[in-house]
Order: sequence, then structure tokens, then C-alpha cells
Amino acid sequence: KRTVPTPSDILARKGGTPLVCLTAYTTPIAQLVDEQCDIVLVGDSVGMVLHGLPSTLGVTMDMMVMHGQAVARGLSRSMMVVDMPFGSYEESPEQAFRNAARLMAETGCSAVKLEGGVEIAPTIRHLTARSIPVMAHIGLTPQAINTLGGYKVQGRGEDAKRILADADAVVEAGAFSVVLEKVPANLADEITARIPIPTIGIGASAGCDGQILVVDDMLGLFTAFKPKFAKRYATLGQDAATAIESYADEVRAREFPAAEHIFGDTAPEPKK
Ligand code: KIV
Ligand code: NA
Repeated sequence: KRTVPTPSDILARKGGTPLVCLTAYTTPIAQLVDEQCDIVLVGDSVGMVLHGLPSTLGVTMDMMVMHGQAVARGLSRSMMVVDMPFGSYEESPEQAFRNAARLMAETGCSAVKLEGGVEIAPTIRHLTARSIPVMAHIGLTPQAINTLGGYKVQGRGEDAKRILADADAVVEAGAFSVVLEKVPANLADEITARIPIPTIGIGASAGCDGQILVVDDMLGLFTAFKPKFAKRYATLGQDAATAIESYADEVRAREFPAAEHIFGDTAPEPKK
């Protein structure tokens, strides 16, 4: 039987069997992904895939706490990491500590994730030195969409130096793992070979120490748009649409409810 890995266990998986990671935002999906995942991330992608927000910028601490609590109720084997939302950590290391401590205390998560490299490394250091394990996130950082100017590949050509410096900075600051989002595969491989902590790729490379996807993307539940890296393993959104259409047809045709779904005026004899 698997036991819940700690951030140190995850760190020790560097270079080993790739880490299986997915997001989750609700108890039933958490129960499903718990069977297979090493790490379950309560991502701020929740704002886009479950709340209909146009980006992750409108996600709040209260949303992360509520979804974190829901996911925690569904996990028994995977390690839970919760994203720090936009505006909850950038102001100062003190602000970051206060909000990270709240996420850990109120959700029971093992670690938090925050976006940024060189610029945010002092904040990562502040947290890791005060008993808060940090997963870093570099490359495409969706909370920076407005300054990055779109969801573009990061670190092509000369720009690779910037991402390499970010990778070194988060390692130096004590992060136990780092998400590499939407960077060229050769750069992801170079970073994976260079740093001593697991790299978790999304739109990166099969050579990373682990992979993560947004669960609603891979199940085909979120279809507003599809990033190239978001492989669809199922079409649950289409299946749901078909089911809803069948229900509507049966209601209009008075075929639902049928005899097995309705009640008689007298209770059946109790079974002996
Ligand atoms: O919010 C999220 O789902 C994420 C993953 C895609 C890494 O940050
Ligand atoms: Na995120």
C-alpha cells in the first residue's frame, strides 16, 4: 500500500520513475486521481475551468481554501499542493507567509506552489526557511499573462538564459520541485539535467522528472480552448452533452420517469 509522499520523498524521486501529477478541484475528481497520482495540485486554473473566469487573475484565497478543503476530503495516498493565487504573495515575503500558512492550516496541504523565478526567489527562501515547502513554477506563468503578452512559449533562443537563471534561483531558494510550463523541449531537458530537484513538465518534455495536466483538459471537460500540450484522454464533455440531450428528449416525450422511477400509493410489503 502506498503512503502519502512528503516533499522530501518527491525530491528523492529526482531522475527516477516520472512523477504522475494532475490537478483536482473537487472531492469526486480527487478520489479518482488519488489512485494514480504522486502529487495532486489544487491549481488556480480552477478559476478558468470551474468558475468561467477569463484568466487566473481573479482567483481568490477563499476560492483556493474552499477547493483545497474539497480535494483534501478525496485524497488518501497523493501529496496535495495548493496554488497561491495572484496577489496573495507578490507584495512581500511576509504577505506570502501569512497566506501560505493559511492555505496549509485550513486545507492540510503539504506544500504551496507559486509562480516566478529570480524575482520571487527571496519569497521562496522566506517560506522554505519557515517550514513551508514550495513547488516553484517557471517558464510560462499564467498569472503574468498581461506582462508576458499572451500564453506564448518562453525561453526560445537567447531567452533560454532567463529561464535557466530562474531555475537556478528557485533551487537556491529551497524549492523541492519546479513546474516547467511551455518551454522548448531541449531547454526543459537542459534544466532537468542541470538542477538537483524534480522538474514537472507541462508543455515541456517527456524527459522531465514528472508531468502535470489540468484534469478537466485531459478528460475533455473543459473545451473553451485547447492548448497544444493538453492531450485529451477522454471526451467527457461530449458524453455529458449526449446524456443531457437524451434526458431532454425523454422528458418532452413523457418517457421519463418510467415505472421503475415512480412510486405507488401503497407501500410494498416488507421483505421477509
Ligand atoms: O493552475 C494549474 O493548474 C497549474 C498547472 C497547470 C501547473 O498551475
Ligand atoms: Na496555476
